[in-house]
Amino acid sequence: MEHIYRSYYTKSDFITQYMVKMLNPSEQDMILEPCGGDGVFIDSLLSVNSSLKIDTCDLNDEAVAKLTDKYSGNSNIHIWQTDTLLDDRFDMYAADKNGYYDKIIGNPPYGGWQEYSRRDELKKKYNGFYVRETYSLFVLRCISMLKNKGVLSFIIPDTFLFLHNHTALRSYLLANTKIKEILIFPSKFFPGVSFGYSNLSIITVEKESNKDVAFGNNVRIIKGMKTDKDLERIRLEKDIEDLTVIVKKQEEIFGAEHHAFILSNDHLSDIIANTKLKLGDIADCVTGIYSGDNKRFFAVANESVRGGAGYPVAKDEEIDKNCISLKGTDNFKYVPVIKSSSRTRYVRDSIDWYIDWTKDAINHYNNDKKARFQNSQYYFKHGIALPMVKSSRIYATIMNKMVFDQSIVGVFPKDKYYYFVLGLMNSEIANKLIHTINPTANNSANYLKKIPILLPSDADMQYIADKVKDIVDNPENIEDRHEEVNEFFNRLYMC
Ligand SMILES: C[S@@+](CC[C@H](N)C(=O)[O-])C[C@H]1O[C@@H](n2cnc3c(N)ncnc32)[C@H](O)[C@@H]1O
Repeated sequence: MEHIYRSYYTKSDFITQYMVKMLNPSEQDMILEPCGGDGVFIDSLLSVNSSLKIDTCDLNDEAVAKLTDKYSGNSNIHIWQTDTLLDDRFDMYAADKNGYYDKIIGNPPYGGWQEYSRRDELKKKYNGFYVRETYSLFVLRCISMLKNKGVLSFIIPDTFLFLHNHTALRSYLLANTKIKEILIFPSKFFPGVSFGYSNLSIITVEKESNKDVAFGNNVRIIKGMKTDKDLERIRLEKDIEDLTVIVKKQEEIFGAEHHAFILSNDHLSDIIANTKLKLGDIADCVTGIYSGDNKRFFAVANESVRGGAGYPVAKDEEIDKNCISLKGTDNFKYVPVIKSSSRTRYVRDSIDWYIDWTKDAINHYNNDKKARFQNSQYYFKHGIALPMVKSSRIYATIMNKMVFDQSIVGVFPKDKYYYFVLGLMNSEIANKLIHTINPTANNSANYLKKIPILLPSDADMQYIADKVKDIVDNPENIEDRHEEVNEFFNRLYMC
């Protein structure tokens, strides 16, 4: 897979000035900027004291060339090209229990997927930690290079506060540092950044070798900023009454399930209560046909179809695979129908059921008291089939040129949301939302309509649509590839 780094450069002076203040640098300090980029933090540090000693590095040739050129007259600034996560010198500093740096500041890369070979290398080196998100490894790596009482300030997504994947990182932070302050704010504070699926945070920690002292520390978490200018008020410690300030003892956070930072009572309930846009606004959700007498009108593809005992087997020449008429088929008997759950996500591995689509049968569906020819305008349309009966996993699958029966909710998103909705409906988060909205056993269409929809940025929408479409077009290793889709929606909904 492609190795994409997402590098969002820190363009806001309010952000850099706040972080430099939190660092409180002095001339005695050895300072590190572990992913120098175009040097915004270095400039901000030098603007408070031009004699500071700073090490910086970057993986990228151009960034290193620019940094070298920019700081060529300053012998206190040491620049080299390397991979911060794998660099030998950093290995040495990290192995020294006294650490090396007094202060570390930066905006590490995040949001990019990594090649499997690199993941393996990182997994070995950062055993037990979640290696898919580089930012969390930057945090670990850099804290391990801090001296005791040294300070680090990083701008990173806030997902490390909540996601299960980051449990080990939270445990490390809570037991080895005093977390001074965490600011949480929308990613739009970064001009031009399309990072729609999470908030960003600035975390400042002081390394603390005594775990009891770390546990006794109170973390201050500030939310509710409206613009990046609000960071100035926080930096100056004045007029911040309108912001939400949460203070929590580290020991208490450590004691919570998965050491998760719980910033509201129930995150999902909050999302359900506060999100205006619902699935019903971007997709039609409807139940399918009931024949009134399935044994008479349904047929199976072969005798091994689950639940197919007592049904006739449809012969190939009896099946009209191209029918899209609601009036029936002329030269055939059956059309494909989706019924009951699927063995696979995204794409069903076989068509198991057929329904009688002769003119007589249609007449029966329309006139029989028990039968329901309901929502027929959606039959044969391009949609998503979701089983009505809930299970611990929901397998949503594509459906095209087919009828669907009442064991299925047909979801018909507006075209531009089709793959987004298909991915979402297969995600863990959709399952949790469905269970929170309606804890009973059925996914009736009316409850599905209430699923809150958080739309990502256009770029992220395109990203996820491409991923899901790729699975649909080449349905191999579906479960492995689905993991990335699942992670995307976990981040989007911050779970
Ligand atoms: C998010 S940018 C931040 C740049 C700068 N700190 C700023 O805020 O403007 C991240 C920088 O990290 C560099 N980078 C990405 N992965 C790296 C790695 N493994 N080691 C060192 N630098 C890396 C990228 O080349 C990019 O310049």
